[in-house]
Amino acid sequence: MATTQPRYSSSAKRPSKGAPKSSAASSRRLPLLATLLLALCFIVSPVLSLGIISFDYGADSLKTALIKPGMTPDVVLTRDSKRKLSSVVAWKMADRSFGTDASNLATRYPGDSFPDLKLLLGRSADEQDQQLRDRYTALLGSQLVSTDRGTIAATRATDYTKDGSGPDTHTVEEMVAMQLSHARMLAEETAGEKVKVTYPGTIGSYGGLETVVTVPTFWTAAERQAIFDAATLAGFRPRLVSDAAAAATSLALTRNFATPELHLLYDSGHSATRASLVRFSTKSFPTEDLFGTSMKEHTFIEVLSTGWSREAGGLALDEILREILVEKYKESKKSDDVAKNARAMAKLLASASKAKHVLSANQDARVSIEGLIGDVDFRATVTREEFEAAVEAKGLGGSFSSPISDALTRGEAKLSDLTSVIFIGGNTRVPLVQKSVAQAGVPASLVAQNLNADEAMALGAGFYGASFNPQLKMKPVRVADINPYSVVLTDSEGTEDQLWKGSPETLEQEYKHRYYEGVYTDFGFEIGYGAEAAAEGKLDTFGRPLYRAEVEEIDTTLSALKAAGDLNKVETSVNVTFVQRPLGTVVVQSAWLIVKPKKGGGVVGALRSFFSAKSDKEDDTAAADSNSDSATNDTAAAAVNETTPSAETADLLHDKHIRLTVQTIPQGSVKPMSGAAQKVSQDKLYLADATARRKLQREEYRNKLEAYVYRMRELASGGDKTFEESSTSAERSKIESASSETSEWLSSGGGESDRTTVEDLKKRLSSLEQLVTPIEGRMVEARGRSGAAKRMQRALDLTEEFLTEANTNLTAAITEGTSSRYSRTDLDSLQSSLKGDKDWFTKVSKEQEKKKREEEPAWKVDEAEKRARKLLDKVTKLKKRRIPKTRPSSSSASSNAASASGSKSSSAGEGKKSVAATEEETLKHEEL
Ligand SMILES: *[C@@H]1O[C@H](CO)[C@@H](O)[C@H](O)[C@H]1NC(C)=O
Ligand SMILES: *[C@@H]1O[C@H](CO)[C@@H](O)[C@H](O)[C@H]1NC(C)=O
Ligand SMILES: *[C@@H]1O[C@H](CO)[C@@H](O)[C@H](O)[C@H]1NC(C)=O
Ligand SMILES: *[C@@H]1O[C@H](CO)[C@@H](O)[C@H](O)[C@H]1NC(C)=O
Repeated sequence: MATTQPRYSSSAKRPSKGAPKSSAASSRRLPLLATLLLALCFIVSPVLSLGIISFDYGADSLKTALIKPGMTPDVVLTRDSKRKLSSVVAWKMADRSFGTDASNLATRYPGDSFPDLKLLLGRSADEQDQQLRDRYTALLGSQLVSTDRGTIAATRATDYTKDGSGPDTHTVEEMVAMQLSHARMLAEETAGEKVKVTYPGTIGSYGGLETVVTVPTFWTAAERQAIFDAATLAGFRPRLVSDAAAAATSLALTRNFATPELHLLYDSGHSATRASLVRFSTKSFPTEDLFGTSMKEHTFIEVLSTGWSREAGGLALDEILREILVEKYKESKKSDDVAKNARAMAKLLASASKAKHVLSANQDARVSIEGLIGDVDFRATVTREEFEAAVEAKGLGGSFSSPISDALTRGEAKLSDLTSVIFIGGNTRVPLVQKSVAQAGVPASLVAQNLNADEAMALGAGFYGASFNPQLKMKPVRVADINPYSVVLTDSEGTEDQLWKGSPETLEQEYKHRYYEGVYTDFGFEIGYGAEAAAEGKLDTFGRPLYRAEVEEIDTTLSALKAAGDLNKVETSVNVTFVQRPLGTVVVQSAWLIVKPKKGGGVVGALRSFFSAKSDKEDDTAAADSNSDSATNDTAAAAVNETTPSAETADLLHDKHIRLTVQTIPQGSVKPMSGAAQKVSQDKLYLADATARRKLQREEYRNKLEAYVYRMRELASGGDKTFEESSTSAERSKIESASSETSEWLSSGGGESDRTTVEDLKKRLSSLEQLVTPIEGRMVEARGRSGAAKRMQRALDLTEEFLTEANTNLTAAITEGTSSRYSRTDLDSLQSSLKGDKDWFTKVSKEQEKKKREEEPAWKVDEAEKRARKLLDKVTKLKKRRIPKTRPSSSSASSNAASASGSKSSSAGEGKKSVAATEEETLKHEEL
């Protein structure tokens, strides 16, 4: 019973067709099967190796965590051993860089550096987002363009292509994918294995590294879809989790909640501020595992409600500080050239951010930038008072506290219900943010500063992912996540039907079903956000409609019945299932048409053939559902029955379930990536990765070449006495000129450009090696020659000795008429081999005596060793030979006694023989 895939539950539950007929036998067999599967699972798991890579993709930094058996759950370190990666991708000409390297490029190549891309994910490029685009353009100095999906792409400022093919344009999803891809590589290096793309909720999730990506609680479907698309481009198939749920999971892991507790997570980050009301509790819950179902204590984490501000964030504060600096610059220099200079603005933004941190602990901050524009230096002092007044003037102060009151109102809770307010995010260290929270009525005593809050989301997302995998043996947690927007279905008459209520409803149940009776034709409806979400301004610039759905194939399925006028003999209904997956993106999971014959009617003609026919659709879905425990798991499929064609009346017929096709037409201003768009982007990313790989290889070979040239010059200049002795001056001058030529080529940038292939570099290296290798060969020969000569001489001597003795013995045997180990031919043949080798060695030794060190040697160590080994092998073979019963050909018959004496003599000779054997072995060892 070989089970290649660890399909524990399904295999155990479904005995195979070949199982014993008797139920007693099969029930006896099942525990055995279960045991086998268990054993299999424990053997297999370390090989399969499983784990979670989780990402907390922030506007300013990307944190990656790895959870893997045998490793302490931790964040993944970057190449420069940092715990987070700056969320930037930047280019310098054709070279792409990430993290610190990319940040460093931001002030030098602002138009080729892309920070804060999170702000643009899932946003549209139309006028609605003009403000965002202006802000971003000011942030970067690069050109934003619109894609045909209505999303945003950015064009690099520098056209580095020499053929004028123009600057690169990348979609936001692609640039985020590049960063996730880079983080993935770091995680894979840490994990010592590659990510295997698995599909959440399926069998495949047993094994391989899975991924989870956090999303802000307030993100709309378009934004969630965008990061999901980006992660897919980076080679993942992730789960999404809200950052509140992720942080809560991490914070709850070490605690038990005897009584339920309400906490408010206050998270003020780089691009936004949100507050989320979370309930923690511990409940016993029937839990299925490999051993069956039992009651287990679970930590329950429910994100009840959330409030947010898309304006209030660290970046907004940096921008306000930059404005102050720009004003000060204008005042002191009497010039407003700075605002138009992208590089200067990038430098000012970086300085503003530093000044903000200084102002967190001090009343004033000094800013000093050398060469802000050209060689103009800039110095200024900003006070905290000035800064806070500017924030107030922008009306931003209240935006830091309103998320708290919004979350409480939506969650129908009061401050006094809270156990604590947990601060998360770098911005909570800014005094004006703390002041704002205090002004909202949160007493300092309620505020909990969590030491690891910055990493809580990355790690928590990992723990959240692990909670779905029983093999990771985590403390059981159940997380009810949130999508704060109500989702409504609007039918063709404009009637609205709320599918999800939005906050305070949590999303433990991702599925919703709608059942329509008496449906005889195709129909459509629209899915979108509730009117109140837009009215409350919760959706900002996002539109309400998400997509139109067209439920098809009802007409075609019923056409035969309709034609026969039999429609009134059946009852029809349509069951549509909706799901928020990936979290927060609403899709139609499935739609089924159920056709029932009306009771009491006769079954003839069209009706009979309708119910007895088995449509392809039915077959497909039934088969698909029985061999995959997919998340779909349409129980409807189980109801599909083999219809009984012989049935006479409708009472004996069974309902027919037909899976329908649903076309969805995106309606928002931003469309998700189509399969074709994914493919185009994937190819682009692949090419970019390939270019990066080629560059790395080129660098590697360039370094090799450089090192070789360095060595050559040392050898040619007489740095090595033996080398000098072993080479002619002509050779050395050739090496000298070749190395200087290559050295010049390298220092003038040779091998750096895209047009030099690795093959070119390899060729250069090997042509240099061809000058040096023969000389090095001579040196090696010279070093090994005397040893090899000694061993050759000994082999000749030993063979000579053996031949003399063996000849004596053979002659004796012939004269005595006893048997002998050797025949005359054997010894003659050995004799001639010996002569050949001896002559060769005498000749080449004489020649070698006349050779200079810089000349090619007359004989090679290798050849001598080979000859010696061959000769000794022949001797050994002869020595090992058994003494035959027959006597040497020229001898006459002899007695038993003689043969006995022969064998005796051979055993007496044992001592001497073994000495000879030892000698040979030593020789052989020396050769090695
Ligand atoms: C699929 O449906 C069966 C019952 O038909 C149920 O036992 C099983 O748990 C379901 N699986 C999933 C993944 O929902
Ligand atoms: C619709 O289908 C779902 C599963 O796909 C099922 O749980 C639900 O009960 C069905 N509704 C009706 C009324 O049959
Ligand atoms: C399938 O049909 C058989 C007999 O025709 C009946 O006993 C059984 O209950 C049916 N199953 C379902 C799921 O309708
Ligand atoms: C020759 O004969 C002597 C005495 O029988 C024995 O010890 C010796 O090993 C033999 N030598 C060879 C090379 O067979």
